[in-house]
Amino acid sequence: MSTPNIALLIGASGGIAQALITELLAHPDIDYVHAISRTVIENNHSSVTSYALNSLDETAVAEFVQHQKSAATQYRFVISTVGILHRESSATCCSLKPEKRLEDIDPVQLQAYFEVNSVIPAIWLKHLVKIMPKGSASAIAFLSARVGSISDNKLGGWYGYRASKSALNMFIKNAAIEYGRRNKHVALLSYHPGTVDTGLSKPFQANVKPEKLFTPEFTAQCLVKLLTEAKAEESPYYLDWAGKTIPW
Ligand SMILES: NC(=O)c1ccc[n+]([C@@H]2O[C@H](COP(=O)([O-])OP(=O)(O)OC[C@H]3O[C@@H](n4cnc5c(N)ncnc54)[C@H](OP(=O)(O)O)[C@@H]3O)[C@@H](O)[C@H]2O)c1
Repeated sequence: MSTPNIALLIGASGGIAQALITELLAHPDIDYVHAISRTVIENNHSSVTSYALNSLDETAVAEFVQHQKSAATQYRFVISTVGILHRESSATCCSLKPEKRLEDIDPVQLQAYFEVNSVIPAIWLKHLVKIMPKGSASAIAFLSARVGSISDNKLGGWYGYRASKSALNMFIKNAAIEYGRRNKHVALLSYHPGTVDTGLSKPFQANVKPEKLFTPEFTAQCLVKLLTEAKAEESPYYLDWAGKTIPW
């Protein structure tokens, strides 16, 4: 019996992630999707298994990966959509609002940006290396953002979001070197989805031209195509939705 091809989706409740589930299930290489979210996501697909897991809990991530290793799971694609730009305060979290100027910088908020946008991807990169297939092609993508590009930064502002996405890019670039030594068949990709109509971009859509505001379905299609074409020997990639290289 052949091994089923599985995609792992981390941060599965989000706007882009929900479109990715549909896109992945339509892919000829994919039989099943493992969907990780902080809360179990509702889905009507028999081919989707949902896992409730907080990725900031490294023990939980390690246990999940060990469980998949024991089950001889082979991930063809892994996609992390985990990311944060703004939020209201709650009993457990501070509010987050992208900084307009230096005076807006707040160490507590910076820590929150880095925890979600950089530390969570780093934890997954650390543990995934143990289970990515060694004998066949696979690809791991993290949803980054063009504003994480250091050389492309002409506008300023958004200190925490920009810096934490730049840190994510460095984790990807650095890890690609080690993956190249330890698992030559994995391509790593940092992906800018464009401005996509989700809760994350809602407060910032006013000045976006309608033709530049993408649907989650469109950007999910673009990403899965890029993952399908990704080659380990050309990794790491930093690409936008059109497949254009973004300077690190
Ligand atoms: N929308 C855009 O215009 C745009 C543009 C550039 C880049 N991006 C990037 O694309 C990615 C997906 O964005 P989206 O538009 O789909 O946003 P979204 O709907 O807000 O989804 C964000 C995802 O991040 C996860 N997340 C948020 N806070 C978290 C926390 N404290 N701990 C763990 N996970 C957390 C959520 O996972 P759970 O399932 O666990 O809730 C959720 O699935 C993000 O990384 C974002 O930075 C988006």
